[in-house]
Amino acid sequence: MWFERDTIVTKPKPDIVILPSLLAADFGHLEDAARKAEAAGADGLHLDIMDGHFVPNLSMGPDVVKMARRCVRIPLSVHLMMSRPDRFNFIERFIDAGADPLLIHIEAECDIPDALRRIRTAGVKPGLTLNPDTPVESIAQYVDSVDEVLCMSVHPGYGGQKFMPSVLNKIHRLALAAHRREKPQSLSVDGGIDLNTAVQVCRQGATVLIAGTALFGAPDMALAIREMRDAARAAYSQFTQEAQTSV
Ligand code: DX5
Ligand code: ZN
Repeated sequence: MWFERDTIVTKPKPDIVILPSLLAADFGHLEDAARKAEAAGADGLHLDIMDGHFVPNLSMGPDVVKMARRCVRIPLSVHLMMSRPDRFNFIERFIDAGADPLLIHIEAECDIPDALRRIRTAGVKPGLTLNPDTPVESIAQYVDSVDEVLCMSVHPGYGGQKFMPSVLNKIHRLALAAHRREKPQSLSVDGGIDLNTAVQVCRQGATVLIAGTALFGAPDMALAIREMRDAARAAYSQFTQEAQTSV
């Protein structure tokens, strides 16, 4: 491996994890954008991989992940919006480039357990993503074999879309289920996350916030991250209090 995994700095289990999405950065200055997010206090970077088939857009490939890995020491959460992440050794190529966690979609046209196994076998945390219209039940049989469940709160393919409140109920159900586990998975939300919607999703039990436009578009990213973290933390503690009393 061209980089040492133990040089990656994972901060001591923050209750709320904030991941700026590089899709919203200026593609002419991606290295600067990655460094800026790290300096602003991001817990990791989120990289969106689009194949022009699963979603109607193309974005970046393993080389961009590799560039980010070279620039920053925080983890790289890589979101594969691909119909066939299992082909052409894509899983292994993104892992070699530095992805961890690596997230595939439940709607992908591949053998899901096998893809998750390949990620795990490579020593990387596997995650499973659901589109806004995909029911929670669709991941029931795989949920124990992943470290992260990612709920899309927009139809994937583009940054800058409006958050869909219809996913709040799904987040709540997934969060309650995760909360009851001995080792809860991370519950992430991606799409239209800003200060206001971050509060809404963390109130329902989400712990990982992926935000592109709101963070890269902020005049002061460090301040935007701090404000988002504080507000999200307060909202999440309301969720945990409620979840404890409802057991
Ligand atoms: C959408 C991507 C998101 C996107 C979020 O397909 O998966 O990660 O970058 O961008 P914003 O925060 O602008 O909605
Ligand atoms: Zn994403």
